[in-house]
Amino acid sequence: MTKEVRKTALAMVAGGKGILAMDESTGTIEKRFKEIGVENTEENRRKYRQLLITAPGLGDYISGAILFDETIRQKTADGIPFPRLLEQQGILPGIKVDKGAKPLALFSNETITEGLDGLRERLQEYRSLGAKFAKWRAVIAIGDAIPTKACIKANAHALARYAALCQEADITPIVEPEVLMDGSHAIEKCLEATAQTLASVFKELKGLKVDLKGMVLKPNMVVSGSSCPDQATPEKVADLTVTCFKELVSPKVPGIAFLSGGQSDESATSNLNEMNKKFKGQLPWKLTFSYGRALQRAALKAWNGSDANIKAAQDALLEKAKGYGKAALGEFE
Ligand code: 13P
Repeated sequence: MTKEVRKTALAMVAGGKGILAMDESTGTIEKRFKEIGVENTEENRRKYRQLLITAPGLGDYISGAILFDETIRQKTADGIPFPRLLEQQGILPGIKVDKGAKPLALFSNETITEGLDGLRERLQEYRSLGAKFAKWRAVIAIGDAIPTKACIKANAHALARYAALCQEADITPIVEPEVLMDGSHAIEKCLEATAQTLASVFKELKGLKVDLKGMVLKPNMVVSGSSCPDQATPEKVADLTVTCFKELVSPKVPGIAFLSGGQSDESATSNLNEMNKKFKGQLPWKLTFSYGRALQRAALKAWNGSDANIKAAQDALLEKAKGYGKAALGEFE
């Protein structure tokens, strides 16, 4: 491992910039395309992703883009490989390397993320294709008697093994333990599950000698369950999230880039903004965004599958990216 992983981590969370998650698997992008009636073909996926990464000036607000295996191999219509195009935009190319969350054997309604077998070799290839960072998402669900300690521990251990392999390959790992918003639970339940998960993740990272200065954490915010009738205010989300993270996330970690996890664009903005505004000057790490849906929702809708709408879609993406960039500084109006 060299200092490169630390340098990349710092660049990924540079002030006022965040990460564009555009690493939807073929199945997930199908769901998104269905909403706008676009057929899920390789060419449509290529066109849509080209539109995103060629948005003029995107690099002013976006530090890195997370690509899918198919996407990192694709090119613009005039033949520029996507990773190279991103570099021209001043955006670091990244790659999702996990193989998805699969049912955890002997445990009901819980999952374990797979993809460690052969990962060392895959990382070499991704690096040769231009990847500077990687992502692995672990999924923790809240429900009746879940999450279990066993599920949290198994996922945390896999995250740590992935992160160590990335650092060995000079690739900065995004460590993503996502406690899902799905459910009618109160925010306190999310707080408890998030705290248990973070404690386990940092224990495993330490145990496997992962350099905390050479990674980016991508967690959920502490929020109310999506169907909870009592939705916490941004102030409460900010208080609970920051207090929890200050206790459990090492100050060595350069930055925390939250996922949006199904939050509305408004919540994804106001929650992030509130944390950075209220705790300005009191945080050991940068707090920014690594949004998928919250960055793409408006652009996807504006595009609607038509070439005539590319500019409108890019404008929608830029507007969102600019807004979240302000929220990452606590300066959103
Ligand atoms: P969302 O912001 O849509 O949750 O996606 C982020 C992501 O990369 C999930 O792994």
